[in-house]
Amino acid sequence: MSRGIFITFEGPEKSGKSTQARLLEKYLKSKGWKTLFIREPGSTVIGEKIRRVLLDRKNDGMSLVAEMLLYTASRAQLVEEVIRPALRRGMIVLCDRFQDSTLAYQGYGCGLDVAVLEKVGKLATSGITPDLTLLLDFWQSRDKLKNESAPDRIELRPDAFHQRVKKGYFVLAGRYPQRIKIVRVEPGIQETQAKIREIVESCLLKKSSDKKRPSRS
Ligand code: TMP
Repeated sequence: MSRGIFITFEGPEKSGKSTQARLLEKYLKSKGWKTLFIREPGSTVIGEKIRRVLLDRKNDGMSLVAEMLLYTASRAQLVEEVIRPALRRGMIVLCDRFQDSTLAYQGYGCGLDVAVLEKVGKLATSGITPDLTLLLDFWQSRDKLKNESAPDRIELRPDAFHQRVKKGYFVLAGRYPQRIKIVRVEPGIQETQAKIREIVESCLLKKSSDKKRPSRS
């Protein structure tokens, strides 16, 4: 079965994940790669509806378990409807957030049991894990963010929550150093993009040499 490459972007809100992912998409397409950009929660009709429910500030009574299951439901739909078929077609799938977000936000941030989230996550993704995760290292105080834009339900949470999320991401990066690469966000968008391209190029090179290697019987 032909297998594409699955790359995810993680990090805090306003870290420039989407901008960087879109720039990378453009670059990879210019090099002839078949590339698809998607985001979580969302990128399916059902997922976009779930996204609205999750981020709506009026839903401040949502239980933490309901929140986690909704993120996971959106992911299950995305895997089934978009990610698995695209990988089967040999595409490079660029996804703005994936399972690590649930571990960082609902696990380390909200205090749900990370081991349980991993089990539920496996069910939702049917074991599909990213080949590479780019973790954007960036921090902006919530007070500044609240003054700049209309924050959603998750962005409204206090600095302490977002600090736990950030720490959680670093714990995950320590656990999966082969997969999760930390990219410090530079003041210039292109500077950060250059670092991302270098990491992605070496991942693509490694993947193509792995494919050339004779498979073990
Ligand atoms: P964003 O992708 O535009 O940053 O918005 C999605 C928000 O949802 C963001 O605050 C992070 C949060 N989130 C979780 O809390 N858990 C998850 O599993 C995912 C995918 C996102």
